[in-house]
Amino acid sequence: MNSPLNGEPITRRKSLSLAGERTGTAMTKWTDTFKPAAFGLRTQDAPLPMTEPLPGNRDSTVPSMGEPAQGKILVVDDEPAVAELLVRVLTAQGHTCLCASNGETAVKLLEREDFDLILADVMMPGMSGIDLLMITRTLFPAVAVVIVTGIHDRETAFSALELGAYDWVAKPFERDKILITVAAALDRRRITLLTTEYRSALEEQTRDIVGQLAEREEEIVLRLIAAVGSRDHETEAHCRRVGVSSAVIARYLGWNTERQDLMRRAAPLHDVGKIAIPDDILFTQRSLTQDEFEVVKTHARIGAKLLEGSNVPVVRMAREIALSHHERWDGSGYPEGLHGDEIPESARIVAVADVFDSLTHDRSHRPAFTEPEALNVMLVVSRIWDPNVFDTFLRALPEIRQIYDRIDDRERGSVALQRTGAV
Ligand SMILES: [Fe+2]
Ligand SMILES: [Fe+2]
Repeated sequence: MNSPLNGEPITRRKSLSLAGERTGTAMTKWTDTFKPAAFGLRTQDAPLPMTEPLPGNRDSTVPSMGEPAQGKILVVDDEPAVAELLVRVLTAQGHTCLCASNGETAVKLLEREDFDLILADVMMPGMSGIDLLMITRTLFPAVAVVIVTGIHDRETAFSALELGAYDWVAKPFERDKILITVAAALDRRRITLLTTEYRSALEEQTRDIVGQLAEREEEIVLRLIAAVGSRDHETEAHCRRVGVSSAVIARYLGWNTERQDLMRRAAPLHDVGKIAIPDDILFTQRSLTQDEFEVVKTHARIGAKLLEGSNVPVVRMAREIALSHHERWDGSGYPEGLHGDEIPESARIVAVADVFDSLTHDRSHRPAFTEPEALNVMLVVSRIWDPNVFDTFLRALPEIRQIYDRIDDRERGSVALQRTGAV
């Protein structure tokens, strides 16, 4: 039942001679005890390189399922005789091997070349096999590591497994144990890499689809803004500034990136209902009569009506904002006279951003206020806003100022279809 190396301690190079293994009794015993084909391995004669790759050396790749479990293996052992033995056994099964006599050299080889598997002795001067295992797990996670320990050192072996080693083999070696362990580790690595590759591809595909959907949503939103702006380019720039400044306030309030982006795209539609307000009221140079103001106030409900019934998140948020951006914290707003937290937070944010932008830019009936003038006005009436949102707006003001420099009232037409990139 014994193979030529079965149970034989490896202490001297001379004792490792495999001269008889391919002929006569020794070979017969070997084939009797181990059937390479049963493990998807093939037996072949091969030279025994110690530091140079074998002829036909290949780059390490992820083989497809069904390929024989052959790999490019880095044997790390400070005893040349042991390393030579391992290389001899592994190359005979079609594996490609390189050797390193210590961990430091192994790391250099790993930086230079791709390997499928490392067979590392634990006890080495300098960097131990466990150190090498940890470095490999961190820097070369795609490489499987099999640890070689003394027969009585099971504790180290279990520690190595906990640290991410694929498996371990004990000295003195049994040839079949080495080959089975290596084949199993290569198979496991292959499945792991294929799974990772598949998952990455799936994630990338999902990201693409989500990206495409977001782009389409964005285009719809931008076309709606353009529709509003087609009547008044001043309104168009205002809508876009309110979008990006509201997203900044949302970020300061701790909204996640996804919701900030929703806000950036939804807030510009806050006045979409104005599309239904007659020009002679919307663009009048004089003060509005009470009746005219009542007409203007309808833009909140009209905007919500235009946007209702959608399952698209950006449209849903846009509807919420369009309906409630004139509600006031103290209940004196319209269209429903909501109080405090009854007003959706998105609309509470836009309410502040909307007024600040309106005050600091020219309107058909009045010139722009300076920023200090606008802030003075806002401080006087600040009870109409959520105090937390208003304070957050003041903190975010330096950033909002920068956005204003980038979106100008003089922008016209197709500019509305470009992303601002300000958030
Ligand atoms: Fe409005
Ligand atoms: Fe507005």
